[in-house]
Amino acid sequence: MYMQEYVSKNLEETIELGRQFALQIKKEGANVALKGNLGVGKTAFCKGVISQFTNISVDEITSPTFTLVEEYGSKLPVYHIDLYRIHDLQEAEDFPWEDYLAKGTLCLIEWVENFPTLEKFIDYYIYIEKNITNERLISLVKKDNDGRQKLIT
Ligand SMILES: Nc1ncnc2c1ncn2[C@@H]1O[C@H](COP(=O)(O)OP(=O)(O)OP(=O)(O)O)[C@@H](O)[C@H]1O
Ligand SMILES: [Mg+2]
Repeated sequence: MYMQEYVSKNLEETIELGRQFALQIKKEGANVALKGNLGVGKTAFCKGVISQFTNISVDEITSPTFTLVEEYGSKLPVYHIDLYRIHDLQEAEDFPWEDYLAKGTLCLIEWVENFPTLEKFIDYYIYIEKNITNERLISLVKKDNDGRQKLIT
């Protein structure tokens, strides 16, 4: 099987999927981009990932919508980034991206489409879509080294 696709019926299931995903990448970290419309559940998934990595409770994890970056200490540094409000590319250029995206960190990025320069650093994509009954279809995709996207084995 090359494919990991899930249906999440509610917020808790999405958080749990984030936890399960975190277990797969726990040791070495990764750069992960979350894609999907406003309010679809990207931050919810990130909360699961971050709580698994750091043992911080989900209620204490807030969206970096206004701060742009939230940083968490754990064995690996964890960065949660939201580029929704980045429209000034110069502002994005001034970010210390090498620190966030370095090997041995976990970097979760929402709205990477607003700063496409970063796409080449992404190891995993999490795609989230709503279906007609408001459930979330969540696909986990791992990128190949040659840049092609391949689903997680
Ligand atoms: N199955 C589900 N999974 C995740 N969230 C759900 C689900 N069903 C309903 N929700 C609701 O959808 C919202 C998801 O919000 P969240 O902040 O995670 O979205 P987001 O994709 O990060 O949005 P934004 O683009 O604004 O950052 C929450 O209010 C949550 O309660
Ligand atoms: Mg969000």
